[in-house]
Amino acid sequence: MARIRTPLSDRLGLRYPIVCAPMFILSNKEMVVACAEAGILGTMPSLNLRTREEFRAALEWIRARTDRPFGINLTIKLTDPERLMHDLETCLEFKVPVIITSYGNPTELARRAHAAGAMVFHDVIHLKHALKAQESGADGIIGVAAGAGGHAGTTSPFVLYPYLRENLKVPVIAAGCIATGRQMASALALGAELAYIGTRFIASTECGADDAYKRAVINGSPEDIVYTDSVSGVHANFLRDTLPGYQPADRATAQKDIQQGGGKKWKDIWSAGQGIALAKEIKPIGAIVEEIVREYVDVRSRLPALED
Ligand SMILES: Cc1cc2nc3c(=O)[nH]c(=O)nc-3n(C[C@H](O)[C@H](O)[C@H](O)COP(=O)(O)O)c2cc1C
Repeated sequence: MARIRTPLSDRLGLRYPIVCAPMFILSNKEMVVACAEAGILGTMPSLNLRTREEFRAALEWIRARTDRPFGINLTIKLTDPERLMHDLETCLEFKVPVIITSYGNPTELARRAHAAGAMVFHDVIHLKHALKAQESGADGIIGVAAGAGGHAGTTSPFVLYPYLRENLKVPVIAAGCIATGRQMASALALGAELAYIGTRFIASTECGADDAYKRAVINGSPEDIVYTDSVSGVHANFLRDTLPGYQPADRATAQKDIQQGGGKKWKDIWSAGQGIALAKEIKPIGAIVEEIVREYVDVRSRLPALED
């Protein structure tokens, strides 16, 4: 079976070095299984399931359909500490091989995950946090560049990935604006070992997003994306038309809303990255992956060579 291999995708047993990134409210178990079948790493935030019981049932559902790898995102500071530890233990019980941590210090989660043989990827927007996470035991660092969907950084992907790569011992995972094969090729050329793709997969058949949300992703342009901290107190990218007039939110209220599992703001205000410019069609995850891989292979063979 043809594969595209990097050291990290090999370690994970993936056919292609692609992660379907976790997305609050949107990622679901159907996406995780479709990703496994397409040979990439599917993921979802544990908080997309309202209760511990629903989370366990989702893992059971996934495990009944695939024994391939997938990942679960644990949002440290946004999750009630008891629920956080419970979800981690449930992941380890179901042999989830990748735990993706964000919003907090992953030391304790990494210690427990490693003891059970799981890997931890941690997402960052700065080298400073990447070095800390590496010290805390992260096995891979997700560099979230400018223009990414969700909470994004401000550093250009052209700088962020090679900069992290030069300064870290652990592999770099490229997040931000990747929607096509040529972008995946650039991310790998810049030193990343996995392409971490969120926005493109909103416009997948399996994604739980509203149809209007999916259409906004395939019809939008980069100018439709606004980078603001007005929704959750942390800078993130949103579709302009869904933002209610840039009112600065009360940070404490927004955080409480997420902790209580409501996430009301992220339900009504739609996050997406600048990669919407290159997402053209709503289709199944398998077909999106095929298209990305085809373009990757094509663009790689067309890169100008050194000639005499
Ligand atoms: C709607 C949406 C929700 C997101 N929710 C989360 C989340 O709950 N946890 C997380 O770590 N990252 C979250 N992200 C960020 C993604 O995991 C990933 O870093 C990002 O989508 C990559 O950039 P791209 O969207 O340009 O591909 C979210 C992104 C989007 C678009």
